Amino acid sequence: MTKQERLIDLLERILKDASLPLQESNLVFGEGNVDCDIMFIGEAPGERENELKRPFVGRAGKLLDVLIEGIGWKREDVYITNIVKRRPPMNRDPLPEEIERYKPYLKEQITIISPRVIAPLGRFSMNYFLPSGKISRDQGKVFRIKDKFIVPLFHPAAALRSPSMKEALQKSFKNLPAIVRKHKSMPTSGFFGKADPEQEKLL
Ligand code: URA
Repeated sequence: MTKQERLIDLLERILKDASLPLQESNLVFGEGNVDCDIMFIGEAPGERENELKRPFVGRAGKLLDVLIEGIGWKREDVYITNIVKRRPPMNRDPLPEEIERYKPYLKEQITIISPRVIAPLGRFSMNYFLPSGKISRDQGKVFRIKDKFIVPLFHPAAALRSPSMKEALQKSFKNLPAIVRKHKSMPTSGFFGKADPEQEKLL
């Protein structure tokens, strides 16, 4: 099966899983280049995302687009999704059990797309990869987990509320092309040794 076919199969399984929370909202699966070098992962869809069934298409999404284009990339070149794939009511933060329930599906989505670099947007998504990470301390740093490089970034919605966060996020974005170039050509096996999923290695 191609990546596209595997992703459609995954999407259909999520749609059929009636035990998942937030059933009253639409499924926002994710979109972009399935052969991307970098995948951005937010926390959960908002109102506009729920309406259009597309990730990051509201105000935070517009900032994400500007940041991506600001480093010479196009939105279509990257893959964008969320950890929780349906909108929590009133845009509240996703609950720990909601995150837990959607996690296996995110895991599969990452396996299918298999990007070398992942940029979690905000603390919820960062904590999926780095459970003891702190977004204020770790944003913009590069962590290696198994064969992936994780670059936690401030959530664009937080950057819209804080000029200093926005500046830090812009700075971190400027480093992304070099991070991707450096890590995309590294071998996927034989180099990383025994991986401890709990181990976070700061590069
Ligand atoms: N915030 C997110 O975390 N994800 C979206 O898709 C939109 C806003």
